[in-house]
Amino acid sequence: MASPRSSHFLIRRLHSLAGVIPVGVFLLLHLTLNATAIGGAEAYNRTIKLMATLPALIVLEWILIYIPLYFHAIYGIIVTLDARNNVLRYTYLRNWLFYLQRVSAYITLVFVSWHIWQLRIAKALGLVEPSFAEMVKIVHNPWWFAFYALGVVAAVLHFTNGLFTFGITWGVTLGPRAQRVASYVWGVLFVAMSAAGVAALLSFR
Ligand code: HEM
Repeated sequence: MASPRSSHFLIRRLHSLAGVIPVGVFLLLHLTLNATAIGGAEAYNRTIKLMATLPALIVLEWILIYIPLYFHAIYGIIVTLDARNNVLRYTYLRNWLFYLQRVSAYITLVFVSWHIWQLRIAKALGLVEPSFAEMVKIVHNPWWFAFYALGVVAAVLHFTNGLFTFGITWGVTLGPRAQRVASYVWGVLFVAMSAAGVAALLSFR
């Protein structure tokens, strides 16, 4: 039988993996599809229609998004409340990023949960029909625009900084040189994904 220590290890590994596959991959895909809004209303509405035609969409959503996302979030909250997890010795910047990883986790949780309610659950209840025009209505309000921009940048920061720690968790980037390279690569991804996300939001305004 698995000891408490080994089941804790296993669940930590599952938490780490879920953050990248499937949740992180989904975030990357979602922002890429959102970026079609930069091409205008027609291009964006075409993307939404295409997504809606995926077979067994609701099953895919549960398996690839809701279950892994909320598993990662619930266990993530337990991790943030467990003071013992700060056992690594960080540099000054890494210490800040460790803290930001936790702050961005909570912002992402609020933002993503609201976003799922506002556009997915409300759609299932027949209250809205997601489209370019619907997004224009939402982000026309500067507070909503700020909320969406903050949520997108927080989720991207959490994901890309998470890719850095993921490399350490899985023993891929253990040396200082490998970690320096990883910092640059994930830093560039952070800038690219944030820019794409905010540009898509701006195109609704
Ligand atoms: C878009 C949604 C999210 C994505 C893509 C994501 C992705 C990731 C990734 C890739 C990691 C790194 C795993 C590792 O170091 O091995 C991570 C870590 C973490 N995530 Fe998330 N995450 C998301 C949402 C959340 C939410 C909503 C919470 C909790 C409220 C959360 C809490 C955490 C915590 C606490 C860690 C750090 C674990 C540690 O330092 O050992 N995440 N996340």
